[in-house]
Amino acid sequence: MSAPVIAPMSAPIGDEALIAAALKASQNAYVPYSKFHVGAAILMSDGRMGTGANIENASYGLSICAETNAITTLIAEAAGTIARVAVVAWPESDPQARVLATPCGRCRQIIAEFAAPTATLIVAYADGTVALEVPTSELLPHPFTLDP
Ligand code: THU
Repeated sequence: MSAPVIAPMSAPIGDEALIAAALKASQNAYVPYSKFHVGAAILMSDGRMGTGANIENASYGLSICAETNAITTLIAEAAGTIARVAVVAWPESDPQARVLATPCGRCRQIIAEFAAPTATLIVAYADGTVALEVPTSELLPHPFTLDP
């Protein structure tokens, strides 16, 4: 009799782990100009998770938001849809400040491009407390689309 095959299993990623991943990513933000750290963690519908942080530039307008960074990295890795987005932000001047970092308009359009119909956004404070939980469809009611 051959040995049973044990399928590799990983526990589904819960909100606590997603928020912790967003917080960890925020620590790697490159923010010499705003000194405002943003971290995003994205759970894809296929179970993959990816993170991103904001990366600024001396030419300020070229700065890349945490959410966009995370999403483009995940999509470059494999096609898929977004199930959950977690965002955490904090200013260097007061890392425990309770900042409600809702995604900017550009990030909302990028989230809308890949969000599953049931996708949810969670915004948490730096201490891990959930400040806002909202369907991503409510973030951008009339997204630009090429559909007729
Ligand atoms: N930022 C994000 O990373 N995500 C957003 O949705 C809004 C703003 C970043 C951009 C910049 O590095 C810093 O926050 C302050 O605007």
